[in-house]
Amino acid sequence: MKIVVLISGRGSNLRALLEADLPVEFACVISNRADAQGLEIAVAHGVPTRVLNHRDYPDRAAFDAALAAEIDGHAPGLVILAGFMRVLSAAFVEHYARRLINIHPALLPAFPGLDTHERALDRGVKLHGCTVHFVTPEVDAGPILAQAAVPVLPDDTPNRLAARVLRQEHRLYPMAVRWFAEDRVAWRENGTVFLRAAADTAEAALVSPGG
Ligand code: GRF
Repeated sequence: MKIVVLISGRGSNLRALLEADLPVEFACVISNRADAQGLEIAVAHGVPTRVLNHRDYPDRAAFDAALAAEIDGHAPGLVILAGFMRVLSAAFVEHYARRLINIHPALLPAFPGLDTHERALDRGVKLHGCTVHFVTPEVDAGPILAQAAVPVLPDDTPNRLAARVLRQEHRLYPMAVRWFAEDRVAWRENGTVFLRAAADTAEAALVSPGG
């Protein structure tokens, strides 16, 4: 299966995906910023890169159309957002229905949007984490494919919590992409997603020791 990854910056999730030995072909990494560090990571892994600067286009629709044309040139089975910091138009998102995924640094539907770690600390939650979800026009609201939870500790700062979550992002995203590539992702009629042949974890639980 061919994959296209969209990035805007650091690229640590891209790196985790590239190093996970997934049964996929990374056809291209596309960034909307020429200075995205992730581009160097792609090059180091021999993956073709492309920069499409959104500022070169008159509006969101024009940028999204150019982006879709670039992506479709690779005919990917899955498009992955990995720190891609642009809101995508409904037309773009619908064009990639059920084959466009994102990772969000919170346990959705809690804390959509930005500054998730600060907000989690402000609300005093005891478990925080990350979510891989299919992208729909409403930001951070699409069907959830996988989640990982971490404890929130009493002396956490946003940075410490972010680092703890990021380590789980780097495990979760490759896992979710592998499930997709293995055709284990199934859809219910109500639009939610489940994993075929999942492990029996009916009695498993996560309890935060954070207090
Ligand atoms: C990650 O925290 C991801 O959850 C969010 O953007 C950040 C990207 O980091 N969507 P990186 O570029 O993968 O290092």
